[in-house]
Amino acid sequence: MIDKINGYLEDIKNKALKTEEEIENFRIEFLGRQGVLKSLREDFKEVPGQLKKEVGMALNSLKGEIEELISTSKSSVDASISDEDDLLDLTRPHGGAQLGSRHPISLVRKEILDIFARIGFTVAEGPEVEDDWHVFSGLNFPPEHPARDMQDTFFIEKDPDVMLRTHTSSVQVREMETKEPPLRIVMPGRVFRNEAISARAHCIFHQIEGLYIDKEVSFADLKQTLLYFAKEFFGEETKIRLRPSYFPFTEPSAEVDVYWGLKTEVDYRITKGTGWLEILGCGMVDPNVLKSSNIDPNEYSGFAFGMGIERIAMLKYQIGDLRNFFENDARFLKQFSKAF
Ligand code: PHE
Repeated sequence: MIDKINGYLEDIKNKALKTEEEIENFRIEFLGRQGVLKSLREDFKEVPGQLKKEVGMALNSLKGEIEELISTSKSSVDASISDEDDLLDLTRPHGGAQLGSRHPISLVRKEILDIFARIGFTVAEGPEVEDDWHVFSGLNFPPEHPARDMQDTFFIEKDPDVMLRTHTSSVQVREMETKEPPLRIVMPGRVFRNEAISARAHCIFHQIEGLYIDKEVSFADLKQTLLYFAKEFFGEETKIRLRPSYFPFTEPSAEVDVYWGLKTEVDYRITKGTGWLEILGCGMVDPNVLKSSNIDPNEYSGFAFGMGIERIAMLKYQIGDLRNFFENDARFLKQFSKAF
């Protein structure tokens, strides 16, 4: 019996197992229920007493060798698999991996800019950290003007002239100062206000500003442009209405509502029972604003408008709480993965 065991030991020493399949077959052959080790143990029962010690030790070392061979073969097979990984061709086109989804604010921003691009509006951008002139004074808000209260912002303690912009109207001033009319631009961007966060308000949000300056631009042009936008965005049947309003930098000024309808209880709630929903502020650029940007109000006139992207996205996607846009909960964002 000793010879038999030594024979196996010799075999195992010279054996190399190269694949997972070979390892598994070897394991079954030696350690399986009808395997070599099992039958040797049966034979062991017959070994006479004085030889039991010697044969027992040989049997144990055979078992050790078998296990050793299995485990070293396994690790070298694993290593060669990861070597294959290293040889992957990284230039090969991937199989259409899921890369996440665009944020609803980006989707709506793009849709709005595309609509205005179709009628000749190009995109301009400006800084988020601004000075008093571009956010307020250059827009006809003198320092003590009460309209500043509507747009409380975040100031830098050391320098009251440095602030986060409260609206994208600051970009109007920058564009008018540096470019010659005619101007036909839309200005998207992030804005900041010192407001408590709730379902309807946030200290950070996004706006798209519009500005059109040329000779003989009239209020009728403003109304027609906004009607075109509303129909493109909300559908051909959309109705709008303009309500008189006030902004220091436009005169006359208006707020624009779209007709939302009063079919359901939710419609009553979100339109406060009127059926109309406010979507933006607008007006004819105040001559004082043109003057302070060195544009002659006797030669040029223009209109401006500003809308909140979140508000329009909430209408489009029926989102009830503004905070969803900022929490970046993957379950919320995933719903927009097919929207572009
Ligand atoms: N800037 C104004 C706001 O944030 C909106 C607006 C823009 C109104 C342009 C008129 C013209 O409330």
